[in-house]
Amino acid sequence: MSKHKYPGIDRARSRVAHEELLEWVAEVAALTTPDDVHFADGSEEEDRSMREAIVASGAGVWLNAEKRPNSLLVRSDPRDVARVEQRTFICSRRKDAAGPSNNWEAPDIMKQKMEDLYRGCMAGRTMYVIPFSMGPIGSPISHYGIEITDSPYVVAHMRIMTRMGQAVLDQLGKDGPYVKCIHSVGYPLTDGREDVPWPCNPENTYISHFPAERLILSYGSGYGGNALLGKKCFALRIASCMAREEGWMAEHMLILGVKSPSGRKTYVSAAFPSACGKTNFAMLIPPKPLQEEGWEVTCVGDDIAWLKPGEDGYLHAINPESGFFGVAPGTSYDSNPMAMESLRRDCIFTNVALTDDGDVWWEQMTKEKPAHLIDWKGNDWTPESRDADGHPILASHPNARFTAPAHHCPIMDPEWENPEGVKISAIIFGGRRATTIPLVYQAFHWIHGTYIAATIGSEKTAAASGAVGQVRRDPMAMLPFCGYNMGDYFGHWLDMRRAIHYLPYIFAVNWFRKDADGQFLWPGFRENMRVLKWIVQRCHGSVSARETAIGWVPEYDDIDWSGLSYSRSQFDDVMRFDREEWHRELLMQDELFMNLYSHLPKEMVFKRELLISRL
Ligand code: GTP
Ligand code: SPV
Ligand code: MN
Repeated sequence: MSKHKYPGIDRARSRVAHEELLEWVAEVAALTTPDDVHFADGSEEEDRSMREAIVASGAGVWLNAEKRPNSLLVRSDPRDVARVEQRTFICSRRKDAAGPSNNWEAPDIMKQKMEDLYRGCMAGRTMYVIPFSMGPIGSPISHYGIEITDSPYVVAHMRIMTRMGQAVLDQLGKDGPYVKCIHSVGYPLTDGREDVPWPCNPENTYISHFPAERLILSYGSGYGGNALLGKKCFALRIASCMAREEGWMAEHMLILGVKSPSGRKTYVSAAFPSACGKTNFAMLIPPKPLQEEGWEVTCVGDDIAWLKPGEDGYLHAINPESGFFGVAPGTSYDSNPMAMESLRRDCIFTNVALTDDGDVWWEQMTKEKPAHLIDWKGNDWTPESRDADGHPILASHPNARFTAPAHHCPIMDPEWENPEGVKISAIIFGGRRATTIPLVYQAFHWIHGTYIAATIGSEKTAAASGAVGQVRRDPMAMLPFCGYNMGDYFGHWLDMRRAIHYLPYIFAVNWFRKDADGQFLWPGFRENMRVLKWIVQRCHGSVSARETAIGWVPEYDDIDWSGLSYSRSQFDDVMRFDREEWHRELLMQDELFMNLYSHLPKEMVFKRELLISRL
């Protein structure tokens, strides 16, 4: 390999035994031409200097050290605020392997395109090399990655969201396998170009994945899933490909534990699309009367689950992440007290508003809006602020996020870092649906559950760029995250039933059904515990259910209503089965199935036929 001119790489030699890794880093440096290279060690001093760099760049401000010690508020470029699905590509060898739900480009062509973009793209910047682990370091279910980036914001994030630093290099040793991740904000400082607070390159953004080589190349965005490559790119898109080959599952799921009054622990995972309540559900505090009965919920993870069949016949789940990257707006001591408790220190807040006393604020954080704020764009804001059309201006962006270490959450499950994972008894699927889908129902069996999961729909949210509100099919909440053909993914789900002796029960929920006036029919949030209790009791056969055309449903008296006035007729409304609505639902499913036709397992078609005949 041609000798490089980077003292940072030579300095790293004493602590990096992995020659191939050093060579690759030198190659990327030769291509991207940074001023220097820094291997992240994960130390506190390093984190401090990253945070200081973010502040020095003008993107971030330190929050009031008494109110939020060691915490930053960062404002992104208003053009770079969410994942960009239309710029996300799965570059499998054949287009068919990516399937109709993914953008595809031939690997050679995309690599050439990325190489052209990367040429000289880190000029004037430092290139950071971040060794990270998805899952506890050393666990048999963990996998490692190296992210190369020119963004200190990404370095600071990876330290919260993953196990990052020297320990991972030590674990990799001389020749350990790792996923290669390259990221650049795409804003080289050549020819005396001045830097901007949030460098990015929206016109040339690409998030590309090469499953065969376990390679991720990202360019042009510094935000969330576009830039924190361990998260959606690795732990979902690449991992879903690995999982299919190796017989496990990488899913867009929270994991929680439920302790019953008798002390029995039941673990449940749940897949809801982006910004549909995973973080809320993962940290649920039961309503008072249920707490007094002895019900308790603990959190294992809020976004991603890796599920592997264990020798004992159970499906074991780990949370590959070590932090929360949660939707800020809507989060309050009322809606999610445990998230609020996790945010007390050491956090990074992106695109929220700044209060006059140097703290953060976002929509619904408090009942009273502050009289004055600096909004997420850096402008003065009051509750009366209006845009040119007279619409109220939001103080925070709808996809504003907090980044918090998981161990700051007071209700982390004692087993959350257990390398063996936790045994899953139930899997829940949900979407944001104003009509049709009842509050809860249970699948008859695994194949039926796979069909339900494959056909869930949800209204689009602000977590991805684009129009908000319209219903789209989002199979297993994985539409933007499945790294291969969705039809084959359904097939993999069906196959998994042979690898798991004690199959989890499968449920569907919908917290978002509305009445004719657009009001939610279900109070949601902590009251979701009542549904969760029924689900857990179903797992242990200790509560009854009624068989219907779509699955098993609770009767009014099967749900614990203590402390809540929710009448039979309200329950009937939220559970209502409407033939007309289901008719439309089945037509929409047909569209999905037609789209996936060539790889669709027959079981899916049969299940749909069966449902039609039952209706
Ligand atoms: P990602 O991090 O994007 O994958 O999403 P998430 O599923 O973790 O999103 P999160 O939990 O942060 O969802 C936030 C949104 O869901 C907010 O708009 C909340 O108000 C809403 N939400 C959460 N739980 C409930 C509920 O029980 N009922 C209703 N109506 N809204 C809810
Ligand atoms: C999601 O959109 O599902 C997220 C946020 O969890 S991001 O990491 O930006 O993808
Ligand atoms: Mn997510």
